[in-house]
Amino acid sequence: TVQRRPLVIGNWKMNLDHVQARQWLLEYAASNNEWRHRMEGSDVMVNHVEVGVLPSFTSLLAIRDMARATALKPELFLGAQNVSELDAGAYTGDISAQMLAALGCRYVLLGHSEQRRYHPEDDDKIDQKMRVVLDSGMTPIVCIGETKLGREDGIGIDYALNQLVSAMRLLSGDDVGRVIVAYEPVWSIGAGMAPEPSVIESALADIRDFINATFGSDVAARVRILYGGSVNPGNAADIIRRYGVDGFLVGGASLDPVKFANICHLA
Ligand code: G3P
Repeated sequence: TVQRRPLVIGNWKMNLDHVQARQWLLEYAASNNEWRHRMEGSDVMVNHVEVGVLPSFTSLLAIRDMARATALKPELFLGAQNVSELDAGAYTGDISAQMLAALGCRYVLLGHSEQRRYHPEDDDKIDQKMRVVLDSGMTPIVCIGETKLGREDGIGIDYALNQLVSAMRLLSGDDVGRVIVAYEPVWSIGAGMAPEPSVIESALADIRDFINATFGSDVAARVRILYGGSVNPGNAADIIRRYGVDGFLVGGASLDPVKFANICHLA
């Protein structure tokens, strides 16, 4: 069986300028050190979890340089919250995958519900962005999830699976094996209210079953599937111990470096 490395990603959304980001990193490094000591210096255990943050574009460089200088364990990987599907050219205000890869980004978040809601981020663009991110050697983290309405209509997981079908339209099975899927029921984002761990477990199982049926069991065994929506140090342990939960996409709680380090520790 394939061992999937647990993954915790902090999505800062439109928060923390580059000065605040540096402060965050200092405090995160201190908390991180503390729990490393608690694990009695076992690097195997400490490095077991993969940790990443998605700062705003303007904070990426500051975090990258400071993280390198601090030599954090586990290493803190970087990602962006979105990208253009286009190559370099006359596209004012856009940022290309090449630019993000050059900065050392490992991930790019795609299809977040806030992008889908506040920008014309439709399925047709997301599938192209998936392609561009993979072609630049980075890993897409694709967000799917139903709104409250979808949930009340009982079409929750089908809605999310349809989003996944569209997002993966241009990908081969090999590509899909490299993708990270984040299941974020829209109604739980920033609401302080996550579904029951058993409900999360069954949603993630449906997603993996779908990948299994479409791309085969090898691919399904490799894909990491995260849960996102009101994850905090109080509920993380109960969710992560559920079967098939590979980690978290954390919003609000990731702005607090102590809480974030704590969630990483639990994972
Ligand atoms: O991308 C993560 C996010 O949408 C979840 O936000 O604040 O509910 O953890 P939050």
